[in-house]
Amino acid sequence: MLSTALLAAARSERMRGLVTSMPLTRGVVDRFVAGDGLDDAVRAVRELNAAGLSVTLDHLGEDTRERAQAEAARDAYLRMFSVFEEGGLAAGADASVKLSALGQALPGELALDNAREICAAAGRIGMTVTLDMEDHTTVDSTLEVLGKLRGDFPWVGVAVQAMLRRSEGDLRDLVDEGSRVRWVKGAYAEPASVAFQGRHEVDRAYARGLRLLMDGDGYPMVASHDPRMIEIAQLLAARRQPGSYEFQMLYGIRAAEQRRLAQAHRMRVYVPYGADWYGYFMRRLAERPANLVFFLRSFISR
Ligand code: FDA
Repeated sequence: MLSTALLAAARSERMRGLVTSMPLTRGVVDRFVAGDGLDDAVRAVRELNAAGLSVTLDHLGEDTRERAQAEAARDAYLRMFSVFEEGGLAAGADASVKLSALGQALPGELALDNAREICAAAGRIGMTVTLDMEDHTTVDSTLEVLGKLRGDFPWVGVAVQAMLRRSEGDLRDLVDEGSRVRWVKGAYAEPASVAFQGRHEVDRAYARGLRLLMDGDGYPMVASHDPRMIEIAQLLAARRQPGSYEFQMLYGIRAAEQRRLAQAHRMRVYVPYGADWYGYFMRRLAERPANLVFFLRSFISR
């Protein structure tokens, strides 16, 4: 119930105003977000790379309602690519993109056009792109954009959410050769008509999906912090060639485990940066009630 309330708050403008104006929030946000600026992202990436970890960069932002804002989101990625190229950080790095930030809710093909520009620029410098998956109302449109992008950029990946009842079918369509699928549990509040509601049901769906992906011809990206799921994935991965799959975790979560896994597997960290951290931060609080306690404690202890 608490996580449902936090996910509802993630969509509330009133709560956004309240949470983002609290001066002490920043210290807690910094645990999950590299910083507001590109220089903060670069610093985080250098540290992670030095520890043997690959990265995927998320310029924070979502639910864009205006064309200019969508173009600004696209430009932020293009700027990041130039800085990464200049800094020698591009090879093997990935960019995570939310189509809602690029204008998915706006008429026409704005999000596709913006995503195309992002992919073209990423491809030129040896980076890949992965589409984040947002709430269930956006899945069809995201998969449609993915299909169009993959025509020109076969390496574009997508996140698929185990909590959605439809996802097993989507995975079966996505296990073709070279297909990069980031398998996540799902971070949005969804109705029972489209999503499993219980933790165990979601976990079982996640394990089933792991089997499908690891038996398929694509490139599985196991994006979870759950020790049980990681253990299952490692057992299944033993049958695959090294380098034909990877593990992924979020910046600031289970950092020691990220480094441990990197000894034996390719391990990628999702690094969010930018000033629009509110929605991302609230989803991280919702995933783990202990984070909320930590957040509230930071106020009390001052
Ligand atoms: P679970 O929630 O069961 O957590 C297992 C354990 O991990 C916890 O017991 C705790 O130790 C640790 N943990 C998990 N979340 C934590 C947190 N917030 N703070 C501290 N510890 C935590 N979702 C989505 O809907 N669309 C997307 O595009 C993406 N993209 C994405 C990329 C990557 C690289 C990752 C790792 C995750 C996503 N997600 C996502 C989020 C995902 O759907 C899911 O909400 C979180 O990963 C939490 O689920 P776990 O699989 O980690 O398991």
